[in-house]
Amino acid sequence: MGRFVLGPVTAFPPGSRTRVEVEGRAIALFHENGFFALRDQCPHMGGPLSAGTVWGAVSADGPGCYDYRPERKFVRCPWHGWEYDVATGQSWYKPDTDRVKAYQVSVETGGAILESEPGELVPGPYVAESYKVMVENEYVVVEV
Ligand code: FES
Repeated sequence: MGRFVLGPVTAFPPGSRTRVEVEGRAIALFHENGFFALRDQCPHMGGPLSAGTVWGAVSADGPGCYDYRPERKFVRCPWHGWEYDVATGQSWYKPDTDRVKAYQVSVETGGAILESEPGELVPGPYVAESYKVMVENEYVVVEV
């Protein structure tokens, strides 16, 4: 285990995702409300998380009532879509929908109403390996 300087903070602007190699290990570095590092190998089948889409958490208490939490970020693996919390590497999903949300649709007089059944997010079976990242003297340092 050691500490490795990845580069100056300015090399990793806010919102960036960067694949870096440390000791022969591929790491995905995210700059999203702080720095976070995950192994750049999805625990499902090895997809590159650094090439995934990053988005803020969305939850819903009911139809049309969404709570967007931009401070909590998830990355969606580009290969099969499993989603991981960039801070912890934990995957999350909705067990009642098996990751694919189902909608009930009904047509009523005056228009169509879309109803969704909100489900609770629960931890998924996969956890991406995560690493501690620090900023020291304007340099990004990862502990591997
Ligand atoms: S390899 Fe990442 S979801 Fe399958």
